[in-house]
Amino acid sequence: MVDPLKKAAAAAAIDYIKDGMKLGIGTGSTADAFVHFLADKIRGGLNITGVPTSERTARLCRKLNVPLTTLEETPHLDLTIDGADEVDANLSLIKGGGGALLREKIVANASDRMIVVADDSKLVKTLGAFDLPIEVNRFGLTATRIAIENEARNLGLSGSITLRMSGEDQFITDGEHFILDASFGRIPDPQKLSDRLLGIPGVVEHGLFIGIAKVAILAGASGIQIMTAS
Ligand code: A5P
Repeated sequence: MVDPLKKAAAAAAIDYIKDGMKLGIGTGSTADAFVHFLADKIRGGLNITGVPTSERTARLCRKLNVPLTTLEETPHLDLTIDGADEVDANLSLIKGGGGALLREKIVANASDRMIVVADDSKLVKTLGAFDLPIEVNRFGLTATRIAIENEARNLGLSGSITLRMSGEDQFITDGEHFILDASFGRIPDPQKLSDRLLGIPGVVEHGLFIGIAKVAILAGASGIQIMTAS
């Protein structure tokens, strides 16, 4: 069963959906709840088309008859609704707990606006308690991991960097890459870390979303809180 707070945040996001919109559709349990609400609206006559941020979300959309398009056909979207693993006061995010961070970032970046939906336990003072997912090319995995460790050390960050597994096997993303989960604990300067990570050739993308989300809909025990980026 979906957490009621995640469901409440997802339901509130429906108010932002207008007829005719081209939507980016996120990944994770909160985004799944959003897809269910969206499908209800579509049954009631709402006309939208969506680009899913993962094969998982694509399967759910097809099951619930949510019309899909691709970024090839529709390279510019009005709005993306997606979950997050952490949100700070600037609406910087950690994403990728579900392994979909690369497509999530491509889709959000192709959208006029991104709205984050989450329960308010995701709101943090400083990003980094949640392990930062880093999507890496399979080629040169160990060299890339060492390069990440070196850059992190130069920024005063430490902690284990672990290859994500799925049972006995390595977790493989929709883009057929690996994920390294970096347990830094605190990331005081997300922009600097982002710049350094993107300078490493084997790094495909990382789960820091900086300056991308414009609104966060956070559901808590006392109701819905809307945060906007300044
Ligand atoms: C998927 O890769 C992630 O970015 C999700 O958006 C994030 O993990 C949030 O997931 P939940 O909505 O399941 O908490």
